[in-house]
Amino acid sequence: PIPKLHEVFGSYFDVGAAVNKVTIKTQQDLLRQHFNSVTAENEMKFERLHPKEHVYTFDDADRIVSFAKAGGMAVRGHTLVWHNQTPSWVFEQPSGEQADGEMLLARMKSHIHTVMSRYKGSIYAWDVVNEAISDKGGEFLRSSKWLDIVGEDFIAKAFEYAHEADPGAQLFYNDYNESNPEKREKIYKLVQSLKEKDVPIHGVGLQAHWSLFHPTKDEIRDALERYASLGVKLHITELDISVFQHDDRRTDLKAPTEEMLELQAQRYDECFKLFKEFSECITSVTFWGAADDYTWLDDFPVRGRKNWPFLFDTNQQPKESFWKVVNAA
Ligand code: XIL
Repeated sequence: PIPKLHEVFGSYFDVGAAVNKVTIKTQQDLLRQHFNSVTAENEMKFERLHPKEHVYTFDDADRIVSFAKAGGMAVRGHTLVWHNQTPSWVFEQPSGEQADGEMLLARMKSHIHTVMSRYKGSIYAWDVVNEAISDKGGEFLRSSKWLDIVGEDFIAKAFEYAHEADPGAQLFYNDYNESNPEKREKIYKLVQSLKEKDVPIHGVGLQAHWSLFHPTKDEIRDALERYASLGVKLHITELDISVFQHDDRRTDLKAPTEEMLELQAQRYDECFKLFKEFSECITSVTFWGAADDYTWLDDFPVRGRKNWPFLFDTNQQPKESFWKVVNAA
C-alpha cells in the first residue's frame, strides 16, 4: 500500500495542495488520499470573488470549501490584497479618475470583511498581503496601485481589517524569491516592523517556487532560520520544483528525462529534511498543485511548455520524488 503523505508528515505539519474548480474533480481521489489542506489556486482572488463593486461571486470558492469540508481538510485562504488579479474598478472612481487613499482603504476594508466573514470558521489562515516586496535591488516595496494610492500603510491596514473581520484567523504575509538573501532581508524587515507596531500578523508564507538547484539548500535554510527568528509561524505555501534550470529554454520535451527526475527526487528529499528540521515553526507545507497532469508551470515562465514539478506523475502515480520524501519522514 502507498503511504499517505499527510499521515507520513502528520506529526510535523499539514500537507496541502492548491486546487481549482477542475482539479477537485480530476484529482479528487489523489487529493483525498494524500492531502489534509487545500488552497484555492485562483478562486479566492479579488477578481474572482469581487468582479464589480457591488457584485460578489462566491460559487467556485464555496465549492472548494465544501470539497475540503467533506474530506476533513483544512483551508488556507489566498489572497486578499495583491497587485495581480485585482480588477481595475478597485482603483478607480466612477468618473474614471484614480481613487484616492480613503476610497481605496474603504474598499479594501469592505472586501476583506465580506470575504473573511463568509469563511469564518472554515478558513483558518489567510494570505492577507501577497508579494508586496520588490525584487529590485535598493527598492523596498514593489510599485503597485495599492502602494501608489495608499502609501506603505496599506499593508498594516490590510492586517488590521483582517483581524477585525476574523480574530481567530491566522494572518500571513506571503511572497516568492523568499530565499534570496536580499529579498529575505526585506521580508524580514517588513514583518519585524509590523510586529513592532503591534500589527496582527502571525506568519510568513514562503511560496517556494523552486527548481533543481535554485535556491541553494543553504539559502533555504538561512531563510527559514531568519523568518523563524521573528517568532512567527511559517507556511510553505506554493511549493513546486521545476525540472528546468533557470537558463533552460527547451520547449520540445515530451517527457522529463531520467536525469531530471533523479535530481528532482534528491531536491525534494533535501527540502523535506529541512522542513522537518524546522517543524517547530512550519505548520503547513502546500504544493501549488498535486500531480504533473496539471501545473501552472505549463504556462510559466514559458507559455505552453510542459513541466513536471510534483511528487505524482501525469497519471497521478507516485514518482521517485514521492518515495524520497516519504523516506525522509
Ligand atoms: C497563479 C495561478 O496558479 C495561475 O493559474 C494564474 O494564472 C496566475 O496565478 N504566486 C501566487 C499565486 O501567489 O497566486 C500564483 O498563482 C502563482 C505565483
